[in-house]
Amino acid sequence: MAAFLPLLLLAVAANAALLVSPSLGLNQDGLYLLDAKRALTASALADWNPRDATPCGWTGVSCVDGAVTEVSLPNANLNGSFPAALCRLPRLQSLNLRENYIGPDIAAKAIAGCKALVRLDLYMNTLVGPLPDALADLPELVYLSLEANNFSGPIPESFGTFKKLQSLSLVNNLLGGKVPVFLGRVATLRELNMSYNTFAPGPVPAELGDLTALRVLWLAGCNLVGSIPASLGRLANLTDLDLSLNALTGPIPPELAGLTSAVQIELYNNSLSGPIPKGFGKLAELRSIDISMNRLGGAIPHDLFEAPKLESLHLYLNSLTGPVPESAAKASSLVELRLFSNRLNGTLPADLGKNTPLVCLDLSDNSISGEIPRGICDRGELEELLMLNNVLTGHIPEGLGRCHRLRRVRLSKNWLDGNVPGAVWGLPHMALLELNDNQLAGEISPVIAGAANLSKLVISNNRLTGSIPSEIGSVAKLYELSADGNMLSGPLPSSLGSLAELGRLVLHNNSLSGQLLRGIRSWKQLSELNLADNGFTGAIPPELGDLPVLNYLDLSGNRLTGQVPAQLENLKLNQFNVSNNQLSGQLPPQYATEAYRSSFLGNPGLCGDIAGLCSASQGSSGNHSAIIWMMRSIFIFAAVVLVAGVAWFYWRYRSFNKAKLRAERSKWTLTSFHKVSFSEHDILDCLDEDNVIGSGASGKVYKAVLGNGEVVAVKKLWGGALKKDVENAGEGSAADNSFEAEVRTLGKIRHKNIVKLLCCCTHNDSKMLVYEYMPNGSLGDVLHSRKAGLLDWPTRYKIALDAAEGLSYLHQDCVPVIVHRDVKSNNILLDAEFSACVADFGVAKVVEMAGRAPKSMSVIAGSCGYIAPEYAYTLRVNEKSDIYSFGVVLLELVTGKPPVDPEFGEKDLVKWVCSTIDQKGVEHVLDSRLDMAFKEEISRVLNIGLICASSLPINRPAMRRVVKMLQEVRADARPRLDKDGKLLPYYYDDTSDQGSSV
Ligand SMILES: *[C@@H]1O[C@H](CO)[C@@H](O)[C@H](O)[C@H]1NC(C)=O
Repeated sequence: MAAFLPLLLLAVAANAALLVSPSLGLNQDGLYLLDAKRALTASALADWNPRDATPCGWTGVSCVDGAVTEVSLPNANLNGSFPAALCRLPRLQSLNLRENYIGPDIAAKAIAGCKALVRLDLYMNTLVGPLPDALADLPELVYLSLEANNFSGPIPESFGTFKKLQSLSLVNNLLGGKVPVFLGRVATLRELNMSYNTFAPGPVPAELGDLTALRVLWLAGCNLVGSIPASLGRLANLTDLDLSLNALTGPIPPELAGLTSAVQIELYNNSLSGPIPKGFGKLAELRSIDISMNRLGGAIPHDLFEAPKLESLHLYLNSLTGPVPESAAKASSLVELRLFSNRLNGTLPADLGKNTPLVCLDLSDNSISGEIPRGICDRGELEELLMLNNVLTGHIPEGLGRCHRLRRVRLSKNWLDGNVPGAVWGLPHMALLELNDNQLAGEISPVIAGAANLSKLVISNNRLTGSIPSEIGSVAKLYELSADGNMLSGPLPSSLGSLAELGRLVLHNNSLSGQLLRGIRSWKQLSELNLADNGFTGAIPPELGDLPVLNYLDLSGNRLTGQVPAQLENLKLNQFNVSNNQLSGQLPPQYATEAYRSSFLGNPGLCGDIAGLCSASQGSSGNHSAIIWMMRSIFIFAAVVLVAGVAWFYWRYRSFNKAKLRAERSKWTLTSFHKVSFSEHDILDCLDEDNVIGSGASGKVYKAVLGNGEVVAVKKLWGGALKKDVENAGEGSAADNSFEAEVRTLGKIRHKNIVKLLCCCTHNDSKMLVYEYMPNGSLGDVLHSRKAGLLDWPTRYKIALDAAEGLSYLHQDCVPVIVHRDVKSNNILLDAEFSACVADFGVAKVVEMAGRAPKSMSVIAGSCGYIAPEYAYTLRVNEKSDIYSFGVVLLELVTGKPPVDPEFGEKDLVKWVCSTIDQKGVEHVLDSRLDMAFKEEISRVLNIGLICASSLPINRPAMRRVVKMLQEVRADARPRLDKDGKLLPYYYDDTSDQGSSV
């Protein structure tokens, strides 16, 4: 035994040496780094080798005099907790871990050790919870970025005590409370970026005007209310001011003209009123100013254009009056001028464009008169010229024909006359040429062959003459040709038939003649063909029936002869009109019904089983129809007897039930949240089992037609004793919880896109909720049934926007914030006009903001296919999961498919869309029932859906941003204004509903 002992000791010692020896050479800093590595998983750290003597050569590590001073591992796929051990590095000055997956918190105790830290960059990680006070104690900290995490709660008071901080970025978190006054004490600040947080409504602290060293102040999307404090004008070093996307009111303080270093001023999307103050023209560095989407009035101050470096001016969607100042013509740097949707009048400066390198000019939707300045494109840079809906007169300037960069020209709805300059037809980059509703004359020039990028040519309602040149066949990207309401003549050139991209061909109301094109096989995308009211002759080509997506066919008012070809039965037509021709023969059986009567009127020779058609042949089939008539009568009589019997039975049964109800009903109490004109008795009287319109985990929903004719929806919750504890064990029944959730959240909410809870009725365990009635049911029901045809793209788009606005209100305007937790198409209801409301708040949660971490939920809420992936590892209640679900709803709208479907195999809709796009392309996910005239818009909404449904919550934009993005989908759709200049609801694009005669 004794002999063994030394041996054993030796072995132990050798082992210990083996364990330690690789690190023996590594210095202390290196050991700390290895310690930090343990908190993370990342292949990027593979070369952090314990056998090295110093860590100074390791990836991401920098040293000065052998001591680690910087660790920089941006976008390195680091996954794990905050590497607290790094704060033991005594000389660490810079720590950059941006764009990784570090979470859930910054180890507050450990971070206090980072005494030498100057820069800390944690942009885009997965950090949550309150901001740690300890950060403010770091004595050397100059730069702190916590942008794009999910920090919540108010900004701690300690953040007013930073000693050296120059740059603070908290953009895109879930921070609450108000924008704090105490930040005005961090006198060293040069950049303060707090945009896109879920702050409670509050003012811009005037104290921020004390931060005289400030260069950048970003407070966009911070729920700011009240007026802009004049004190901000003291920030003489400020280059960037962004207060956009808030609810600021009142005038723009003239003091802002004191921002002598300003380069960029963003005040768009607020409710600012009054005139634009003078003085901005003196700002020597000013390059861009955006005050669009406010309520500004008065004239544009002429000195504004005197700012020598001004490149971009956005003042659209205000109520500005007066002319575009003459000084605009002298702005030598101006590239972008967007003044659309104001009340500007007068004429444009005659020299506009001569000295100005304009790229984009948008003056649409004003009352500007006079001529388009001759030299508008003299500098040759112009790409977009948008002046639709003004009262412009005179000719289109010849110079535009030499304007080779032009991509978009929209001059519709003016009083322009004269010939369209020939060269304009053939500009090589032109994608959209829209000249409709003017008095333009001349012919479509054959130079159009050069318009290699032209996709939309809209020249309807002018005085154009001549024939459609055969060169049109070279415009390979042409998607829309709308030239209705002109005086075009001659035949259709056969080259038209080779345009493979053509989706809309709208040529009604011209003097075109000859035969319709035969043998067309290229029109795979054609959805609308309108050749009505011309002089076409010959037969309807049967091949039209083979066009795969044609759904609008109007050949009425021509001199077509022959039969209606049977092939047309292949088409799924929304509009079918061949009336007022000289067609003859039998109708194809599918069309020989009353529903198509108006499609065939005015063709004396046409026969079918439609009363009034083909009167000449009635006599011969007289006997036949008499027999049919008799059989129908017998059948109808039998049906009436059956229905009457059933009705009598129900009536007896119900009157028995009602007697029972009457005894009960006196005990109910009603609490109303809106003015209602009925009593609890009225409601109880109309709860019939045959009026049940829905049934779910918490209760049944009835449609109730009240005595006064008013229609409401009544949700009767299952009695307390039933369905015990489905959701929150020990907290009462699911029905109780859902009742309380609905009453607590919905009772107070007033928003057009959130279903109105009119009142609730209670009696012991029985509870009823009374809502406004939504006659078109739920989006899910309509979209995933045969009724989906009712939802054309503009309707779907509107539904998406409505629902987004409702959710945005819950997330960003309600205090405290409300998380719906069960966003799905079945909880989006549609009223008679298909406006959408978010409904069913049975599992909604109010997220307390008062400094506490968000609540954890005991149980997952939500529905299959809509549940955000992070629910797998956290049950934190968070708006981001609603945004995911909303993304799924957007994908449903775009694809027409349900969130889960056997067709997808193991995948859900989100995964199916992603993989299908990857493998086959976007076309294969879009709902084929949609009019592909909107393909661009549809694709953009698809993208927004995919961003919302990002697997990482931080990548999902806040709902307010989603609303904005959806609105931008129709950025070119000028919002229409009513007589008072008030905004009418976003709906149809001015141009897209123009060519169609629906
Ligand atoms: C403003 O900027 C100038 C030039 O960079 C600088 O000298 C001055 O100290 C700054 N003012 C303040 C208050 O920081």
